[in-house]
Amino acid sequence: MPKKYLLLTYGCQMNERDSETIAGILEVLGYRPADNKDDVDLVILNTCSVRQTTENRIFGKLGELKQFKRLNPDAVLAVSGCMAQQPGILDKMNRLAPHVDLVLGTHNLHRLQELLARVNSGEKVREVWEHEGEIVEELPAVRGSGIRAYVNIMYGCDNFCSYCIVPYVRGRERSRDPEEIVREVDGLIQRGFKEIMLLGQNVNSYGKGLCAGIGFAGLLRELDGLEGEFRIRYMTSHPKDFSLDIVDAVAGSRHICEHFHLPVQAGSNRVLKRMNRHYNREAYMDLISQVRERVPGASVTTDIIVGFPGEDEADFADTMDLIEKMRFDAAYTFVYSPRAGTPAARLEDAVPPKDKKENLARLMNAQNRISLELNRELEGKTLEVLVEGGSRTNPKTLSGRTRTNKIVLFEGPPELAGRLVDVIITEARTWTLFGSLPPK
Ligand code: SAH
Ligand code: SF4
Ligand code: F3S
Repeated sequence: MPKKYLLLTYGCQMNERDSETIAGILEVLGYRPADNKDDVDLVILNTCSVRQTTENRIFGKLGELKQFKRLNPDAVLAVSGCMAQQPGILDKMNRLAPHVDLVLGTHNLHRLQELLARVNSGEKVREVWEHEGEIVEELPAVRGSGIRAYVNIMYGCDNFCSYCIVPYVRGRERSRDPEEIVREVDGLIQRGFKEIMLLGQNVNSYGKGLCAGIGFAGLLRELDGLEGEFRIRYMTSHPKDFSLDIVDAVAGSRHICEHFHLPVQAGSNRVLKRMNRHYNREAYMDLISQVRERVPGASVTTDIIVGFPGEDEADFADTMDLIEKMRFDAAYTFVYSPRAGTPAARLEDAVPPKDKKENLARLMNAQNRISLELNRELEGKTLEVLVEGGSRTNPKTLSGRTRTNKIVLFEGPPELAGRLVDVIITEARTWTLFGSLPPK
């Protein structure tokens, strides 16, 4: 009987991609994914530490797993990922979750096999590297759906936005060689993957420090030249160095989707400065107008933090004004969460929780109205949809995404999964579009 593993992933696509590597390493070692009925031999939590709520959820899960360890003393409980890299977290984990057998960080994932062997011979292992090492290529990976694949183009982040833990837990910015990326993407297309998602915390600074002399726009153009039926997306872009050259690379491409996710974080220049974002609202709004001008029909989404220390009513009014002016297709909104070790955590003038909550609700209401208005403009249009499979709630309904990254639900045969099809949009809601296949 092969050993069974259960892998729980928290956080962003970076972690999703790392989990594919974890699964890859485990499957080479002979482990297989557990389903409900199986006895589980190994539980791994691949963790995120971007906000306190996520950290609390993970500690909640570790608490639950105490009972599991009691009933299955031979099973291994492991913690990997960003939370493991957080300064001071090992003490907290040893105190609150001493039943964890293995802790490894984001920089030594490739050592999983050796660390597991040590745990299996009875040792309790904590191995977290303070600094990133060289990029390790050619690690095995179990790719999710067969339709969409994540491809790292760079690791780490050098931006040090004052609220953000990521630079501390993911290390300094490092770009992969363009040849490695092109080879990987080409291989995935040959294997039938239809959507390639390029990953980095700040993809626009791709290429810094490489001898290849290539930037993100150049990489996009090169990937767009590959043969096959596929789409390219990328996450995440920082507005400060999102150049017009990148916008033009998207405009002139066949395969790169017309979706721009450009986190603005706040609409007030005073707050943006304290967040260390290196752009102001005027530059941001100008960038979005350029995007809309050069790539007609593009969708634009953003991230916004509510309640950054010192944010007053006038600052928040600037954020509301910005979202009314920019009319984003969607905004991912977060309540500010202080992260120990970041400069913002030392700022005074915390916004009272009640104000944060109220402002968040105002922001979400306004954005939901705008999202719905924009989606309504799509009713009656025919859009290209990449079918991802049956919808979660109804297997007869298919779910897919437009090039602009909107979810479309429609009736159709399951064989369409993985295909690009035209769908007529019949009804728009805030987060989803409903549609139907055109009559034959
Ligand atoms: N590299 C990406 C962001 C990764 S974190 C980028 O710069 O776009 C994803 C989002 O989480 C951020 O855009 C921000 O809106 C939010 N976030 C990060 N740190 C946060 C914190 N301390 N409190 C609340 N939200 C935070
Ligand atoms: Fe965090 Fe800023 Fe880096 Fe994004 S760009 S990961 S928000 S420090
Ligand atoms: Fe979380 Fe790490 Fe991503 S902190 S958001 S999983 S890079």
